[in-house]
Amino acid sequence: MKNFEFYAPTRVIFGKDSEKQIGTIIKNQNCKKVLVHFGGSSAKKSGLLDKIFESLKEAEIDYVSLGGVVPNPRLSKVYEGINLCKKEKVDFILAVGGGSVIDSAKAIGYGIANECDVWDIYSKKVIPTGCLPVGAVLTIAAAGSEMSNSSVITNEEGWLKRGCNSEYARCKFAIMNPELTYTLPKYQTASGATDILMHTMERYFTKEQSMEITDRISEGLMRTVIHNIKILMKNPKDYNARAEVMWAGSLSHNDLTGCGSVGDWSCHQLEHELGGMFDVAHGAGLAAVWGSWARYVYKSNISRFVQFSVNVMGITNDFYNPEKVALEGIEAMESFYHSIDMPISIKELGVNLTDDQIDDLAYKCSFKDTRTIGEFQKLNMEDMKKIYIMAR
Ligand code: NZQ
Ligand code: ZN
Repeated sequence: MKNFEFYAPTRVIFGKDSEKQIGTIIKNQNCKKVLVHFGGSSAKKSGLLDKIFESLKEAEIDYVSLGGVVPNPRLSKVYEGINLCKKEKVDFILAVGGGSVIDSAKAIGYGIANECDVWDIYSKKVIPTGCLPVGAVLTIAAAGSEMSNSSVITNEEGWLKRGCNSEYARCKFAIMNPELTYTLPKYQTASGATDILMHTMERYFTKEQSMEITDRISEGLMRTVIHNIKILMKNPKDYNARAEVMWAGSLSHNDLTGCGSVGDWSCHQLEHELGGMFDVAHGAGLAAVWGSWARYVYKSNISRFVQFSVNVMGITNDFYNPEKVALEGIEAMESFYHSIDMPISIKELGVNLTDDQIDDLAYKCSFKDTRTIGEFQKLNMEDMKKIYIMAR
């Protein structure tokens, strides 16, 4: 077991009608002017935005708004937000949406609190020293940005998708009403659940011994998501299933399932390049590469895959044939992905990769052949290429 620090400072307000408290909650932030940041059309269409504006007005909170954040949020929108916040002297950002909106809000916050070009923070040239406070009203259970220290932004110049992790960007609060996720298209619900699973799997597949308590929490979380997403595929308005998945999304990425172990994160790195180049839904992109990654690396620690097969996927153990059990677990996970209409190859994701594109993906993912990814098994540029080929 590794030493660890656990820091989850976000105040969570969870349950039906929780968004009605927004005026009071923001009032307690002692801010002067709020930027309400949102995505394309869903929050307008559902009436959520109007409710939020109304609540801010009632609480006599001054605000401006900026919509139009797209999935795989763009740097150009972040610049727009930074300029607006500077002009309007905004000192608090309220993100209304999912991971993309929250991440865009965090990036705007970095852009205000740091002197540099905000992209320098995402390209790791500058370490941020602050971030404007951000709060979230979550409308999709997926990325976990509402409690994580991460944000991921896509630079249209070169289509690079890059992340930044720092404690400054943890949301001050997250309002989570599972009912707000009723309107999600099936694909986004499934893609979100995949991302939630992957946030725990990236931490679970560790080469060293983890903590028993972390393993049990992780296995319980994964089984809960798998069980409830099946319910949601049939009945998207099942409140309890929405609530289970929504809370799992936050717990999966606030680091609770990583205490005492070292995460791998290869699939996320491999997917971020796919998201940057082909604008695919993040969770679906993860499903498309996971099985290939797993088959490429499982021999580094077969026991871990056996534990996953037995404790998460319900495969019967065979003490004399651990490799078979490990492979059965990978197959079972892929069948599950198929059962919720998630892809298990890049082709199924809708992208037909050429050899040149594979070279490009691996070149970008290895930061021009200067880094390896992964902890379960370290992967260099050649390994990345092989996994993209297996997954295509
Ligand atoms: O723009 P609108 O119209 O709102 O549509 C969105 C979008 O098209 C729609 N949607 C959201 N809530 C809805 C809804 N549609 C109907 N009803 C609702 N209630 O769903 C689509 C996807 O939204 P998005 O915010 O992109 O989803 P998600 O939460 O999956 O975020 C994905 C982004 O987060 C990043 C991903 O890489 C990707 O860019 N990640 C962020 C992380 C973090 N900050 O900790 C960690 C993750 O690993 C991930 O990398
Ligand atoms: Zn993710």
